[in-house]
Amino acid sequence: MLDYQARPDLLKGKTILVTGAGAGIGRAAAISYAAHGATVILAGRTVEKLEAVYDEIEQAGNPQPAIYPIDFKTATDSDYQQMANQIAASFEQLDGVLHNASQLGQMGPIESSHTATFMQTLQVNLNAPYMLTRYLIPLLREAEHASVIFTSSSVGRKGRAYWGSYCVSKFATEGLMQVLADELENVSNIRVNTLNPGATNTAMRRTAFPAERPTTNPFPEQLMPAYLYLMGEDSLNVNGQALNAQPIKATS
Ligand SMILES: NC(=O)c1ccc[n+]([C@@H]2O[C@H](COP(=O)([O-])OP(=O)(O)OC[C@H]3O[C@@H](n4cnc5c(N)ncnc54)[C@H](OP(=O)(O)O)[C@@H]3O)[C@@H](O)[C@H]2O)c1
Repeated sequence: MLDYQARPDLLKGKTILVTGAGAGIGRAAAISYAAHGATVILAGRTVEKLEAVYDEIEQAGNPQPAIYPIDFKTATDSDYQQMANQIAASFEQLDGVLHNASQLGQMGPIESSHTATFMQTLQVNLNAPYMLTRYLIPLLREAEHASVIFTSSSVGRKGRAYWGSYCVSKFATEGLMQVLADELENVSNIRVNTLNPGATNTAMRRTAFPAERPTTNPFPEQLMPAYLYLMGEDSLNVNGQALNAQPIKATS
């Protein structure tokens, strides 16, 4: 998967939703999916960033994307229902979702953590993808094959001191993935997996590790083989797996 070479038309004719598509890994994935033929729905909270990605995709001559502004901190259950309805009104099926948007929350010991910030991180990193997936399942069922990718982390697979709500949210994301994968296996066309990007040179990583030389880590574009593999039909038999987009180091 790590050295996967996607054929240029891997995602031709597919519609794929990417959350947090304006920056970092989500931006790279949206651009890469479009470059492989997908119509990408760019979801996120900062419209200017989404517009910049939109322009980049259009200028490259790839399928015209769509923009869906939404802030996961404040969106309610009915906002997600409305989002799914609007996507269903514009597209006949949804072939993939990359749940990528996340916040780091407050790092530090649980003992001195701020409860409201803890809950907000769960809202953005866990509850938002849960609600969105729940309402998008009917449209995912319309696709011949659909892939749902939840973004995990090394701290979503082994707990680590001072990673607080972020760590808990990623463990719960793994659980959500396993429940969905088990529920949907054999009774649907939908496969569900988690992908841990590993340490990547983005704003989030630079915030979490301010003393680290950013170029120690790969750029988001370097992870795209795994993101393409899991979204395209070469991974049709992969379901319920916790995968990595690069070899994992101790400090990932
Ligand atoms: N970078 C790493 O080393 C690393 C390692 C393991 C896992 N991950 C995971 O990989 C994913 C992408 O992370 P990244 O490193 O690319 O982070 P990033 O550069 O900070 O990008 C995060 C994205 O999420 C969006 N977002 C944050 N809060 C949001 C909200 N309330 N509503 C809607 N969108 C929101 C951001 O939008 P704005 O730009 O508008 O704020 C941005 O597009 C995350 O799930 C992260 O947990 C990253």
